[in-house]
Order: sequence, then C-alpha cells, then structure tokens
Amino acid sequence: METLEALRHYVRFLREHEGLREVRLSPAALHGLELIGAGASRSVAGSVPGTLLRGATSAPVAAPRVSGKGAVIPTAPRFEETITVSGATKAEQLAHLGERASGCVKCPHLAARRTHVVFGVGNPEARIMFVGEAPGEEEDQQGEPFVGRAGQLLTKMITAMGLDRSEVYIANILKCRPDMPLGSSGNRKPTGEEMDTCLPYLRAQIDVIQPQAMIALGGTAVEGLLGPVGGITKLRGKFLEYRGIPLMPTFHPSYLLRNASNTEKRKVWEDLMQVMERVNMPISEKQRGFFLAK
Ligand code: URA
Repeated sequence: METLEALRHYVRFLREHEGLREVRLSPAALHGLELIGAGASRSVAGSVPGTLLRGATSAPVAAPRVSGKGAVIPTAPRFEETITVSGATKAEQLAHLGERASGCVKCPHLAARRTHVVFGVGNPEARIMFVGEAPGEEEDQQGEPFVGRAGQLLTKMITAMGLDRSEVYIANILKCRPDMPLGSSGNRKPTGEEMDTCLPYLRAQIDVIQPQAMIALGGTAVEGLLGPVGGITKLRGKFLEYRGIPLMPTFHPSYLLRNASNTEKRKVWEDLMQVMERVNMPISEKQRGFFLAK
C-alpha cells in the first residue's frame, strides 16, 4: 500500500474507532513515514494539515507504528467529526440530517455533477440497516439508494428475509454518485478521501437509528466503515462490529448479478440468515433451504 494511502487509512481508523477529534503527527511519526515513504516523504508532511486534519478540533497526539515494509499499523485512538442532530424523534432527526446532506458541498467535484444527494431510505426504527457503496446513475436520478438492477436484487433479498424495504433502512457510504469522466458511463469506486469526507453523515444516521444489526454490502462498504480490514471474500459470513453494532459483511448484490450461481447466492443467504438470527427473526424451514442444491 502506498505510504499516503496507508496513512489516510490509519487516520480514518483513529477517527472511527478511537474517538479522537484531531490527529497530529509527531515529528517521530513523520520521520518514520519519511523512512518508509522515501520519495513520498515531502508530500506526506506537506499534506497533513489540509487533508488529514479536516474538521479536526483538538486532541492528544498519537504516533502511528510504522512497519519496516511500509504498512501503518493502527494502534491509537482516532478523531471523529460529529454532526449535531436536532429533532425529537428519529424520523425528525433523519429528516434534519438529510436536509444538511442535501446542501453538502464538501466534495465540490461530486456536488457539481450530482442530480440528487442520495441520503438513505427506510424505517427510522429499523432493526436492520443495509450499507452499500455509493449511488449509481439511477440512484442519482431518483434520489434513492439501490433502485437500479443491484437494488432490485437487494429488494428480493429483503423480501426473502420476510421483510419489506420499508421495514429496513438502506444507505450508502457515499451520498453522492462518484463522478465519471464526461461522456463515459458506468460507476467507479469512491476514493478513500471521498469516503472519509462523507462518513460523518452515515455515522450520524447509524447513531440515530441504532439498528440491532447492519449488513455491509461489498468490500467497499466494509472499507468505508472500518478501513482496510481485508477482502470481502475472507470477511463475509463473520460478524464484525461498528460502534458496538454487529456488522455482517456480505457480497454486494452486483457481484451476484455477475456471478448468479446458487453457490454464491447461498453464501449471501447464509449471511442474511445469521443476521435474522441475531435480531431474533423467525426462520422457516423453507427459508433455511433457499439456494441449496435439490
Ligand atoms: N450500489 C450501491 O452500493 N449503492 C447503491 O445505492 C446502488 C448501487
């Protein structure tokens, strides 16, 4: 991993998991980065105030442990930009947050090209929350997450669980569609900086909803929440935790559109059944048999 990239993930880790409101790099840490960053050392030091301390207020100093091979190992608490939420009910709080997000220009390049901010949809009292990556073209057009092909499959997955879309909450790491070069179609993965910038909105949504369990759809969703903890193939099927809430990583529905075998569908289904069990939902014999070879 590039030095800057590793450093950015480390700072994100500090913000997400340890509650630091500001992260300053000590001279020793910068020296360590110089050692591993060689050519990148200048830009590391130069970019710290503008990029890494975005939204920071005040906090202890924590020097990252830096391995000889260039990985920055998270060891210390992190900083957290908190969005103040107002409103008496969860619905009001989410509406307030949604309004704030709808005027967001923290990523000017995304704000300039979006049709809608895609904040989130569903039940403010949801027990289960799905987290995806970012809006695609159709989501950008309609202002609602997961309404394209992948979204239709997600809706089927939710129905298979015995739920309606309106009973769960669905949101993305990024609230704006990642911009594509003019004239080109398709989607791109959000950058780490875009995810870092947008994450406070999702964190506030989670804090308001307080779901009993969350499902991260795909590796980017996991990375957006937790940093670079590993690939989705290895992570899926085992509960992680985000802010004390059980988090089940599973494949993104668009993966299942590309790999539509019953074997892959069954993996996702088993992940969803684990979540159902975790929130004490009944699972029928019929449901237990979905996607098993006959
Ligand atoms: N993929 C996502 O991750 N989110 C959406 O909202 C749509 C597609």
